[in-house]
Amino acid sequence: MSAFSPASATRDSRLDEFRRVRSAMPALAKGLSAEDLAAQSMPDCSPGKWHLAHTSWFFEAMILGEEPGYRPVDPRFQTLFNSYYEALGQRVERPERGLMTRPLLDEVLAYRREIDARMEAWLERVKPDARQAYLFTLGLHHDQQHQELFLMDLLNLMAKSPLDPAAYDEEPRRSPAGQPLGGMTRFEGGLVRIGHEGAGFAFDNEGPAHQQWLEPYGLDHDLVSNGDWLRFIEDGGYDRPELWLSDGWATVKAEGWTAPLYWRGGDGGWTVMTLAGRRPVDAAAPVRHVSFYEADAYARWSGRRLPTEAEWEHAARSRPEVFSNAFGEVWQWTSSSYAPYRGFRPTDGTASEYNGKFMANQMVLRGSSWATPEGHGRVSYRNFFYPHQRWAFMGLRLAEDLP
Ligand code: AVJ
Ligand code: FE
Repeated sequence: MSAFSPASATRDSRLDEFRRVRSAMPALAKGLSAEDLAAQSMPDCSPGKWHLAHTSWFFEAMILGEEPGYRPVDPRFQTLFNSYYEALGQRVERPERGLMTRPLLDEVLAYRREIDARMEAWLERVKPDARQAYLFTLGLHHDQQHQELFLMDLLNLMAKSPLDPAAYDEEPRRSPAGQPLGGMTRFEGGLVRIGHEGAGFAFDNEGPAHQQWLEPYGLDHDLVSNGDWLRFIEDGGYDRPELWLSDGWATVKAEGWTAPLYWRGGDGGWTVMTLAGRRPVDAAAPVRHVSFYEADAYARWSGRRLPTEAEWEHAARSRPEVFSNAFGEVWQWTSSSYAPYRGFRPTDGTASEYNGKFMANQMVLRGSSWATPEGHGRVSYRNFFYPHQRWAFMGLRLAEDLP
């Protein structure tokens, strides 16, 4: 993970980090067509073009716009590329983002370059105070979150095409998945400390650090695999209401779920759509694209349970060496609802809407995925999605109560 930290950074390290982070999304977009980047596959997803623009707009909204007399690159872009900031006024609602045929892709790429030039000029001119240094780093981590969203949303789009298009020759991942280790480690629990503290960057929702009481528990070394999931399917997992939460069962029925998202059954066995096209399901690989409801039903079927987020964090902090794929493969569902930690205070100003207002009806996921950019994940990171959502790169690791 990168050592870049808002407090200790210098002007040159900020410039380097800015260029490194900001070059990644255009690189992901490079081989794709303007059509690929304009379409929206479902209301939860956004077009690639929108991600390229929104992450640029964020720097205008949070940093550049604070400068006295600042003239926006195009004042109309506030309405187009504001995601959810009520304080910033009217916007195009998310389900309509795919209707934005204008500005053209080239115009969005030019907007991105102009913001980069203005931000680099800002870095040359301004010696950021602590608040500005935080917002700058937030802008970079925000871009990185959208790099992953870009890939999630692109896969969802490609999966809707009967042509099974390969967006890339290979999945654009940094390193191969870790090999399974087998087994589980016992944690005694007791009074443990979780949450972010110290000088490095963290989102506001990761703090304050605080104590948490844990009873003894075990956490599996490995993620649940596709092979494990096939046994759940073959044992009637998707047909047995007793395994499911009521809302989960209602979703299974309403959506007709019989397998993880992107899986397709057939004479030749199960296949799965990936960013490199449709592939046979690899039994040894960690299962992906299951919702919280499915993860919870699987855990119940196997006689075990999902870990709480405090259990996950304590285990990953205290015995990181015993786990395969704690980071860098799939985000892992926990049984914890996404709620504020004791003493939580949102970031001041416009960024106050970033995380805190979503703290209802969502579940926390821990770790990171193969699509999470280098230097973005952390042991205290709290990702969150609604329990029915499954288009993110998400899976699970099981826990159990121990005497
Ligand atoms: C943490 C992934 C749920 O997708 O809305 C992007 C990330 N926050 N822009 C989301 C995010 C602001 C967030 N998730
Ligand atoms: Fe965003």
